[in-house]
Amino acid sequence: MAEATYAKGLEGVVAAESEICRIDGEQGKLFYLGYSIEDLARFSDFEETTYLLLYGRLPNKEEKERFSKRMRVSRDLAPEILEMVRNFPKDAHPMELLQSVISYLSGYIQHKIQHSATCNCRDTLHQVVQLASVVTAWQRFQEDKEYVPPRRDLSHGANFLYMMRGEEPDEFEGRVMDTCLVLHAEHGFNASTFTARVVASTMSTCYSSISAAIGSLYGSLHGGANEKAMAMVEAIGSKDKAAEWVNNALDSKQKIMGMGHRVYKAKDPRSIIMEEFLVQLSKRKNNTLSYDILKEVEKTFRERMEEKGKPIYPNVDFFSGAVYDLLGIPKILFTPIFAVSRVAGWLAHILEQRRDNRLYRPKSLYVGSEAREWLPLEKR
Ligand SMILES: CC(C)(COP(=O)(O)OP(=O)(O)OC[C@H]1O[C@@H](n2cnc3c(N)ncnc32)[C@H](O)[C@@H]1OP(=O)(O)O)[C@@H](O)C(=O)NCCC(=O)NCCS
Repeated sequence: MAEATYAKGLEGVVAAESEICRIDGEQGKLFYLGYSIEDLARFSDFEETTYLLLYGRLPNKEEKERFSKRMRVSRDLAPEILEMVRNFPKDAHPMELLQSVISYLSGYIQHKIQHSATCNCRDTLHQVVQLASVVTAWQRFQEDKEYVPPRRDLSHGANFLYMMRGEEPDEFEGRVMDTCLVLHAEHGFNASTFTARVVASTMSTCYSSISAAIGSLYGSLHGGANEKAMAMVEAIGSKDKAAEWVNNALDSKQKIMGMGHRVYKAKDPRSIIMEEFLVQLSKRKNNTLSYDILKEVEKTFRERMEEKGKPIYPNVDFFSGAVYDLLGIPKILFTPIFAVSRVAGWLAHILEQRRDNRLYRPKSLYVGSEAREWLPLEKR
């Protein structure tokens, strides 16, 4: 066996072969199953992208209709789950709720509806679809409003806005929301996807894998940068204060949220699409405040980085928070929305892991003490 090497955080370690996602960090390119993110954003929708991720190819017309229908009939929450959402501690984070609901769904769907302990992940799509319904129901209960049952004639993104607002969004906003879900659906071997695959490698159910992945995404180093980017916009307040704010932050060694990426050394292609959405939404809503601030932040940040010879660009989170904000989505839902979308990618990786499974079992480098003499209690 080859000499074991140690890489903190597994940086640079190849942990598996995968056909799902290709990221070209140098050129700023992203592909799901060979399809560019630009084409997916322009021509596809979240349901079709989910099909692509789960089946490895685009559906034909009939398959697409059948699959969309299957996703749409799974949207409504069972009374038991609705009660769980209603009774969840008010101060808990919706990511904690999502984790709990997925575990509940496992018991509810697999044992009550499927009557089976084995998990056939592509049969029921509740674990993918219902995260959106749970997030919107949670938000409405927070506002002391009633649950809005889903509509089957709307896309996944438009239905999300409908269930959150209680009013149908216009076509453009529905399309923006749905495309945001497409943009976040998959991104290779990030921490939450790796978590999902590790759990899948034990041959546990997809529900256990997804619940673990949600826990992984909850951490501030993974999900959450767009929430912080939006908080930054609010803290800055106006375009003329942005340059000073960024300079002060960099002088005190703070990170500017939404800037830079471990993999992309060029512009994150998703940020280009997000920026276009932000420009269009700002115009339609006659409110360019966030966009103006963000552009000033970007300009100052990039000037400072270029002085140091470090070209660093916006990532997807830089503009997405402001997009969600203009869609009327509160900041606390930004990370849960990430889960609503990424669950499609997690499931694709769980299925791929199962196809050629080998239990993940890396080693650690022992740096503890040498063998020690046992001391009886009275001598310690
Ligand atoms: C994502 C991130 C962790 C990648 O970090 P990384 O792999 O160290 O990035 P790089 O190697 O390109 O960084 C090079 C230098 O630029 C700095 N840098 C990178 N992103 C920065 C940012 N957003 N703000 C300030 N400085 C930054 C790094 O600290 C490093 O400085 P150093 O050479 O003096 O140590 C980092 O860019 C970051 O924290 N960004 C903000 C959080 C964020 O938006 N996360 C969402 C990612 S999708």
